[in-house]
Order: sequence, then C-alpha cells, then structure tokens
Amino acid sequence: MDAERDAHEIARAVERQRELWRRNAPRYDRQMQFWEGKLFGDARIWICSRASGDVLEVAAGTCLNLRFYPPDARLTCVDLSPEMLDIGRERADRLGRAATIQEGDAHDLAFADSSFDSVVCTFSLCNIPDQRRAIAEMHRVLRPDGLLLLADHVVSTNRVITVLQRGLERLSLRFAGDHLTRRPYPLVVENGFVIQDHERYRAGIVERLVALKA
Ligand SMILES: C[S@@+](CC[C@H](N)C(=O)[O-])C[C@H]1O[C@@H](n2cnc3c(N)ncnc32)[C@H](O)[C@@H]1O
Repeated sequence: MDAERDAHEIARAVERQRELWRRNAPRYDRQMQFWEGKLFGDARIWICSRASGDVLEVAAGTCLNLRFYPPDARLTCVDLSPEMLDIGRERADRLGRAATIQEGDAHDLAFADSSFDSVVCTFSLCNIPDQRRAIAEMHRVLRPDGLLLLADHVVSTNRVITVLQRGLERLSLRFAGDHLTRRPYPLVVENGFVIQDHERYRAGIVERLVALKA
C-alpha cells in the first residue's frame, strides 16, 4: 500500500514539474545565465569535458550543455518537458550538434541496463521528485566502469546560509518545485558508486562530482 501511495505521489509530482517547466521554458536560458555568472561558474565545462562514448544526459532541459561535450561523444538527452526539449532541439540545430533528444522520466529511464559510458545530470536532481530513484536509474543504465557526472546546488556548509536555504525552500518548492537543501553525494555513495573527483564551492552551495560505477 505504501509503495502504491509513493508511486501515486511521484506521478503527481512529475505532472506538477511538467506543468512548471512548460510555463518556465521561455525564460529558462536567461535565468540560468544569471545563476551561472553568480553561482555555478564553470560547472558545465567541468562536467561535460569528462563525458565520453555513449553519453546520456538526464533532465537535460534546454540542452545548455550541448556545446561543452567532446565532439566525438554520442549524445542522448532526456527530459520530461516537451517545451524545454523543443528549445534544446533548436540549439542542437544551431550548433550543428548531433544528439538524440527525447522525452523521458528520470525515475524510469527507457534504456536497457548498462547502455551508457557516461551519465550526466546538471542542476536537475534538485527538481526531480525522487532523487534516490533517479540515481538508482542512472546506476542501472551505466556500463561497469562508466562515469556518473553530477553538478547541482545543495545544502550549504555554512550554518547561517543553511537556515536561509531552509526558509527559502518553502517558497522555491511551492513556486518552482526546487529543493534547496538536498545533497545527492551520500545517495551516490549508497548506490555503490566510487567517488573519483569532487568539489564544493560558494560556501558549499555548489557541488560537482565524478563517480565510477565499480
Ligand atoms: C533546472 S532545470 C535543469 C536543466 C538542465 N539540466 C541544465 O543543466 O540546464 C531542471 C529540469 O529537470 C527536468 N525534470 C524534472 N523532473 C524530471 C524527471 N522526473 N524526469 C526528467 N526530467 C525532469 C525539468 O523538466 C527541467 O527541464
């Protein structure tokens, strides 16, 4: 019964995310440009330059990462928002970058086990309703020795900022479905990944990591 209720709640949260991103899609790139300048820095280059071979990007949004991947990476990008993906497709055309861009839910990836050499997820585990399940799916579709590459805003290492984040989270969850005090790192380790490289910056609010599927 609990599993049934969880599945129902996740399905509702997914629908809510889809609606939020339908409305936000036209503004997203501009908003992200602001946050990249203020907070995230070179996270996209740091992450994408480490991807290789068959690469899956989960919750790729408007595919802002496209320009940062190595030219020989074979890209598949999934997201649950058709409006975000439409902008991503236009970007791929503009850049002349081949990529399979399709709708998909991070909780239930439509790929066989061990299909990819790298799985990338940037600034999305804060939005995906069940981050534990999404990380388990990323683990499943990675080949042994494949790399998980994550960057996100997380709970700060500074207590004062953490209190602020907890306060703001009520609003961010309500209006943007955005968790400000999550931290995927322990779940990545719990899933059996071995952390290979890891950085936190801006008072620990931004975290990026490379983890190996051992
Ligand atoms: C803040 S945007 C990040 C987009 C992109 N990763 C980037 O780096 O710019 C969050 C994205 O997560 C997507 N998303 C949320 N929940 C999802 C889910 N369950 N499955 C797939 N995508 C999801 C949203 O549609 C949105 O495009």
